[in-house]
Amino acid sequence: MTWLITGGAGYIGAHVVRAMTDAGERVVVLDDLSAGVPARLPEGVPLVRGSALDGELLTKVLAEHGATGVLHLAARKQPGESVAQPTRYYRENLGGLATLLDAVAEAGVKRFVFSSSAAVYGDPHVDLITEDTPCAPVNPYGETKLAGEWLVRAAGRAHGIDTVCLRYFNVAGAAVPELADTGVFNIVPMVFDRLTRDEAPRIFGDDYPTPDGTCIRDYIHVADLAEAHLAAVRALAEGGVDGDLTLNVGRGEGVSVRELITVIGEVTGDTRTPVVEARRPGDPPRAVASAALASERLGWTARRSVREMVESAWQGWQLLQGAPRA
Ligand SMILES: NC(=O)c1ccc[n+]([C@@H]2O[C@H](COP(=O)([O-])OP(=O)(O)OC[C@H]3O[C@@H](n4cnc5c(N)ncnc54)[C@H](O)[C@@H]3O)[C@@H](O)[C@H]2O)c1
Repeated sequence: MTWLITGGAGYIGAHVVRAMTDAGERVVVLDDLSAGVPARLPEGVPLVRGSALDGELLTKVLAEHGATGVLHLAARKQPGESVAQPTRYYRENLGGLATLLDAVAEAGVKRFVFSSSAAVYGDPHVDLITEDTPCAPVNPYGETKLAGEWLVRAAGRAHGIDTVCLRYFNVAGAAVPELADTGVFNIVPMVFDRLTRDEAPRIFGDDYPTPDGTCIRDYIHVADLAEAHLAAVRALAEGGVDGDLTLNVGRGEGVSVRELITVIGEVTGDTRTPVVEARRPGDPPRAVASAALASERLGWTARRSVREMVESAWQGWQLLQGAPRA
């Protein structure tokens, strides 16, 4: 089998490529390099530079490489940017997905994995989010992920494609320092960025209805997330999906922003007191996954701790300082 991985030169995609090739799977990467870095790919992995919006290219790549499955990670991913540029997010995230699904159907590919997000839930008001918790995204980014899931399932039914949608929670860490996240969009690199500039980390709101007043999230090590993709690929290859499957990918454990910043202080040795600023619109007080269904259906469970995420991310941050920013 050969798997096409779109967005494979990105932060998460490169980890998925690595987990797949380490496990002996054959892969080909398609990435427009808008945020991807070719050096993240292991030697010998073919990289096609191009867009998920280019149907002709997709058809050619699927045929030339004899792809039998697709993992679709390529997307724009910044919620704030999506509020300012909704048409771009719909065009690129949903347009890219629709174009890819057409090419997949035409090529007769029968296995598809889609990168979804906890952003589909919006502000869920539950202790543990299960896959049955109602979805109500609060920004266009989350909307494109939810509509993307609908589209994936509908195309799967229409063309007999088995599909898995993985709803990632808060991704952090690096399997090896070279693959660390070079963007400054998520909390761990954002705090590193502040410390590197000799500034105190920022907390957006400490008056939420949580034990320490700061937001609670479910952090997942990117190496665990990559292994979840491998488990999904194996389930698809063995016929264990038979239709569609939508799964949370998290640890099922809540960590507050203040707790996370404390761990970052311990790891970096920079324990300066965070500054508290106003809440950001659209931040739910608590978003923690129930990880039970992924464990039941894929036999996958996250193994790595928050401390391992921070330590590995910090090693990567120190190595890649000055490297081109995604
Ligand atoms: N990072 C997170 O915390 C997180 C959480 C939930 C879901 N996700 C999803 O995971 C996926 C990967 O995220 P990431 O953090 O690795 O982001 P990233 O920006 O590092 O990776 C995305 C990759 O896709 C490529 N790309 C973007 N648009 C493309 C297009 N139209 N055609 C071809 N390539 C394109 C980029 O060049 C980049 O290499 C995305 O779908 C994102 O929405 C990420």
